[in-house]
Amino acid sequence: MQNPLIIANWKMKLLPSQSLDLARKLKKASSKYAGAEVVVCPSFTEIAQVGEIIKDTNIKLGAQDCFWEEQGAFTGEVSPKSLLDYGVEYILVGHSERRQNLSETGDMIHKKVRLLFTLDITPVLCIGETFEERQDGLKDVVLTRQLHNALNGLWLNKGDKLVIAYEPVWVIGSGQDVDPEEIGHTHQIINQVLYDIFENSVVKDQIKVIYGGSVDPENVGAYISKASVQGALVGTASLDATQFSAIVVQAKKS
Ligand code: PGA
Repeated sequence: MQNPLIIANWKMKLLPSQSLDLARKLKKASSKYAGAEVVVCPSFTEIAQVGEIIKDTNIKLGAQDCFWEEQGAFTGEVSPKSLLDYGVEYILVGHSERRQNLSETGDMIHKKVRLLFTLDITPVLCIGETFEERQDGLKDVVLTRQLHNALNGLWLNKGDKLVIAYEPVWVIGSGQDVDPEEIGHTHQIINQVLYDIFENSVVKDQIKVIYGGSVDPENVGAYISKASVQGALVGTASLDATQFSAIVVQAKKS
């Protein structure tokens, strides 16, 4: 298996001093991360300083969102080109908290992914069903629709990478474990849709599918080994350097 990709999503949970403190702790722990690909996504306000702290380590810098244009009259928005200047290599797109709280649409998400490919930033496209959709038997339909909306008509050039983060919305922040068998099945569905959209070699070599939703040091091993997921998007447990490092270490072993 390739090196697992473990992405920390700090959301809007830390004050500046806390973000910098956490970044310094991760820097200290970073020798343990060899053999994994580790990305941290701080708030925009701390991107530059966290980037400075982790500069000479094996930890990569990510962002939690961006706008779909490079420049212009878009008050309050953040250009991915500016983020690139600060060393950002990965950007989360379409996180369920943005789809729900900010009514982010499939069209907006599509435009963001498209722009990121042109800038050589790796989009981390977040998809997932709500509890109601799952209860109504609509999970596969919802995931298929989200993937097609975001990716139809796009192509990956040589060297472009794409990450799909499957996050069941009802599991995020809940502390719940999900049966790895179910996650494995869902990842197969996601892969089938990706094969419908892209050429086989692109799916195999340029796209990673990872899992998110209450990932912790105890459950990450099962997700990676039993459900063949290629990494994890970690929220709550990424706010504690010890827990986050334990997740990376477990993921490498699995
Ligand atoms: P969680 O968050 O690990 O707290 O469930 C994951 C996410 O929202 O990306």
